[in-house]
Amino acid sequence: MGAVVAPSILSADFSRLGAEIKDVEAGGAAMIHVDVMDGHFVPNLTVGPAVTAAVRRVTQLPVDCHLMIAEPARYAAAFVEAGADLVSVHVEADPHLHRTLGFIRGLGAKAGVALNPSTPLLVLREVLEVADFVLLMSVNPGFGGQTLIPAVLRKAAELREWVDREGLDTRIQIDGGVDLDNIERVAASGVDMIVSGSAIFGSADPRAATERMVARLAELAEKAEHGQEI
Ligand code: DX5
Ligand code: ZN
Repeated sequence: MGAVVAPSILSADFSRLGAEIKDVEAGGAAMIHVDVMDGHFVPNLTVGPAVTAAVRRVTQLPVDCHLMIAEPARYAAAFVEAGADLVSVHVEADPHLHRTLGFIRGLGAKAGVALNPSTPLLVLREVLEVADFVLLMSVNPGFGGQTLIPAVLRKAAELREWVDREGLDTRIQIDGGVDLDNIERVAASGVDMIVSGSAIFGSADPRAATERMVARLAELAEKAEHGQEI
C-alpha cells in the first residue's frame, strides 16, 4: 500500500471551501488536512474549531488537524469536539508532549507529533510509542507554496528505518512543498501520508490534481512492490 494524499485546505478557495473539499474527495484524497495557526507559534493566523466543524459537515473523510499553535494541549479537545480524527501538535510547542499525546488519544483521536525541519528525530525517542503518527515538516511552518527542504527526505527515510526496526505501526506524514515533480523522491523516503496544499488547491482543477497525485503514488507503490527502480 503506497502513501496516501492529504490535501491541505490552507491553499483552498475559502469562499467555496465545501465545494473544494468535495472536489479533492472525489479525486481520491484520503483525509483533509486543516492547518491551524495562531500567529504566535508561527507568523500566520488561519482557522480554528469553527472551520474544522464546517469541514466535518461536508466530508466523510478523516479530518486531520495540524496545530501550529502555542499551548496545543489547551485546544486539542475543542478540535476533537469539532470533528478532528487526527490531531498533531508540535514538539517545539509542548513541554508536556507525552501527556498531551495520551490526552488526545483519550479523546478518541489519533495523536501525532510534528517536527519542524531543524528539529532532530531524537526528540521522538521517549514518545514514539505513544504517538500514532509523526508529521515531518518539509517546509518551515506558516505558509503554503514554499519549496520542499530536501534534507527532510533523509530524515523521513531515517524515521522509516527506525519505525520498521522497532516494529512500530507509527505512521509517517510529510508536510510542505510536495508536488508532482518531487513526489517520487518523497514516496521513496518511505512516508505513509503526504500533505499537499498549493500543488492541489493552487491548480486549476483540484480534483484532477488530486487524481494525478493518487495515481502516481499507486504507480510508484506498484513498482516498489515488484522491485522495479522507482
Ligand atoms: C505549512 C502547513 C502545510 C502547508 C502545505 O505550515 O503545515 O500543511 O499548508 O502546503 P504546500 O503543499 O503548499 O507546501
Ligand atoms: Zn500542515
